[in-house]
Amino acid sequence: METSYYVVVLCVTSLFFVLVLPNGFCIADRNLQRGSECSAADHSVMEAEFETNLGSLLDSLASNVVGHHGFYQASVGKKNNKVYGEVLCRGDISANNCSNCISESVKFASHNCPKSREVLVWFTWCFLRYSNESFFGVMESTAAAITNDTDLEDPSLVSEGLDVMSSLVVSAPEQPYMFQTLMMMALNRSRYGMVQCTRDISRTDCLACLKTQVTNFRNVIGNKRRWEIYGHNCFMWYNDYQFYSDVTPLLSDARRTSCVGILAIVVTVVSFLLVL
Ligand SMILES: *[C@@H]1O[C@H](CO)[C@@H](O)[C@H](O)[C@H]1NC(C)=O
Ligand SMILES: *[C@@H]1O[C@H](CO)[C@@H](O)[C@H](O)[C@H]1NC(C)=O
Ligand SMILES: *[C@@H]1O[C@H](CO)[C@@H](O)[C@H](O)[C@H]1NC(C)=O
Ligand SMILES: *[C@@H]1O[C@H](CO)[C@@H](O)[C@H](O)[C@H]1NC(C)=O
Repeated sequence: METSYYVVVLCVTSLFFVLVLPNGFCIADRNLQRGSECSAADHSVMEAEFETNLGSLLDSLASNVVGHHGFYQASVGKKNNKVYGEVLCRGDISANNCSNCISESVKFASHNCPKSREVLVWFTWCFLRYSNESFFGVMESTAAAITNDTDLEDPSLVSEGLDVMSSLVVSAPEQPYMFQTLMMMALNRSRYGMVQCTRDISRTDCLACLKTQVTNFRNVIGNKRRWEIYGHNCFMWYNDYQFYSDVTPLLSDARRTSCVGILAIVVTVVSFLLVL
């Protein structure tokens, strides 16, 4: 009897934390527009058919991304008017925020690059890319880093932070969704890292993409307390507080009933024993 009691308490306690922690104690991070690339406006060639195809592509990406664990690719049309697109949501954001972020990206693209055939839009929580040329499965290490020049790292922590980020670079490509977060102690201070790759590239390419970013931006990010790198195929975030959520609703199979399930089993077993 006593054991069962503890199981119930443990279960109720963890249920409480699962539900409360992500919104309560974590400092929320905001979804900001982080950059964009648009090919030169193509007034002459931009045909009605291409625009129609682009419209249905964007609809398809927006309506399928949540059901496909936050990553979706599709193409619409034929020959000169074919358009390829993909969307990726950060692994730790909710389904609603993923959808909202994709809508914002689509709005941003149609407002800022209405006549471009190739467009990339980065927000903190999601990434949108489309082009009249196929890019599926092709790793490109093109990227940009965002830092705040006033956020300088304690010099004694610089190499510690980079070392642990490098270990994340090695292990994230091996994760099922090529997404991983890590809290690390650098001396006695906590640092938080997160990396993600688009899921059309191989694990080997994901590793190469992340390694290239760390190498290329080493001098820019090395002495910063916070930084972000946004690329075509891989992404990195580093900060001195927990900016991400510990739950990954998009990546899990919506099986949040485990605790309730255990509780039900415990209740059943206890009442069974009482009857006996
Ligand atoms: C894509 O569009 C650009 C112009 O924006 C054009 O130069 C290029 O040839 C097009 N590619 C294909 C495969 O149609
Ligand atoms: C997601 O969206 C809700 C509102 O719909 C907001 O309260 C929350 O902070 C957002 N953040 C994350 C990380 O999902
Ligand atoms: C950089 O950090 C300083 C101090 O925290 C802040 O006031 C400033 O707004 C930041 N700049 C940017 C571009 O985020
Ligand atoms: C721990 O960090 C504090 C500042 O946050 C510092 O004053 C202290 O010396 C550090 N202790 C050790 C053992 O590094």
